Order: sequence, then structure tokens, then C-alpha cells
Amino acid sequence: MKVIKVANQLEGAKVAFDILSEKIAAGAKTFGLATGSTPVEFYNQVINSNLDFTDKTSINLDEYVGLDGSDDQSYRYFMNQHLFNEKPFHQNFLPNGKATDLDAEVKAYDAIIDAHPIDFQILGLGANGHIGFNEPGTPFTATTHVVDLTESTIKANARFFDNEEDVPKQAISMGIASILKSKSLVLMAWGAEKADAVNGMVNGDITESLPASVLQKHDDIVVIVDEAAGKFVK
Ligand code: F6R
Repeated sequence: MKVIKVANQLEGAKVAFDILSEKIAAGAKTFGLATGSTPVEFYNQVINSNLDFTDKTSINLDEYVGLDGSDDQSYRYFMNQHLFNEKPFHQNFLPNGKATDLDAEVKAYDAIIDAHPIDFQILGLGANGHIGFNEPGTPFTATTHVVDLTESTIKANARFFDNEEDVPKQAISMGIASILKSKSLVLMAWGAEKADAVNGMVNGDITESLPASVLQKHDDIVVIVDEAAGKFVK
């Protein structure tokens, strides 16, 4: 696990963008993507670059159950706004939050991941150590599954909604086993509220109670943190 400390998000996004560019030059074709506030500046860097994704595939980590892609709180909508409308890909996969048969949907999503092995995965980090929506206690062997969001994650995500009650209570998430299969990963974390999770992920034991700690097992992961998020790491 390589840790890079940067002064701020903009600098961190540029570091992540440089790694992405190197991976593309080396032949990367399939990209695992995250939503949330963490990767927004990274996506701006991508949009403002001349990188071409028209022959590339993206696979997102997660989607809220119950939200249609046209809903402005859905992750599909977020990705359209922050990346896909400006940078067209050959194909973009996200779980279908409106699937009537969620069991079938998680199986179908695993089949998509198997058919398109991820070359480069972008991750954010929950303050409780989650990656994707793999909350503390999720088995490291999990593949795509339906998640009951924890109270802390619902509260953290309420900032994007008019009311906390509007935050969906479930999501479909890529599992930890699938995330670990990515050939390479970059995890970004900004702000003091992520400092404890960053510390546990980098310096702590590998434990299901801090899902991101499993990333210590991967041999091609770069963690990019700002001063506040990285205050407990060297
Ligand atoms: C979103 C995702 C989540 C977020 C995490 C951090 O697709 O996978 O794990 O990365 O909740 O969220 P932000 O970036 O909003 O702090």
C-alpha cells in the first residue's frame, strides 16, 4: 500500500489523474468508478483532459435501491452529471436500483464484472471504513449484494438530500472480493472526518470491522490523502 500525502484535493486529484493516464497508456480498458464528493475533482481532471474513453468500459461500485437513473439523487444521475455527459464511454454499467428482482440484479452485476475485469478502480472511503457500500462487518468474500445502510452512512449521505428521511435505506454494492480483483486501485480521502478510517486502513489490523483494511493485501494500491485525512499516517 503506497500512501501519498498531498496539500489539498486538487493536488490529489491530479496525482490520481496521472496514475489513470499511466494505466491507460499501459492498456487499461475497464474502469471501476465511485460516486460521492471524493472523486469529483478527479472527474473534472478527466473531463478537462484529452483522454478518449469511447472504446472504454466503466463499472460503478454501487447504486441506491429504489432510485431510477433519472432521479437526481441516483448514482447513475451523478455519474452522468460529473463524467459521462462530458466524456462518453463505450459502455457504462451501474446496478439497476429499480430492479424488481434484486437477487437477479446482483447476479447479473457479478456476471458483468466477470465479463469485464477491472483494470483500474477508483475508491472513496467512508468515515467508518467502508468501501463501496461494504459496511463494517461485511465478509471479505462478498460479491455484489444488497446492503442495509448503517445509520452513520445514512447521516453522512443526508447532505445530498433535502431530508434525512429521503436517503434510501438500501443499496446494491459491488462486494469486497470483486473490488480486490481489480488489477490496480487508487483510494482518495479528504478531510479530518476520514483520519481515523485512514489510520485503521493503513496502520491497523486487517479486519472486517474496518472493510478498507483489506486493501493492505493488494499489491497495486495507491492511497492519496490530504493533510487532514492523513494526519495519523507518515
Ligand atoms: C460511493 C462509494 C462510497 C463513498 C464513500 C465516501 O460510490 O462507493 O464508498 O466513496 O461513502 O463518500 P464521500 O466521497 O461522499 O465522502
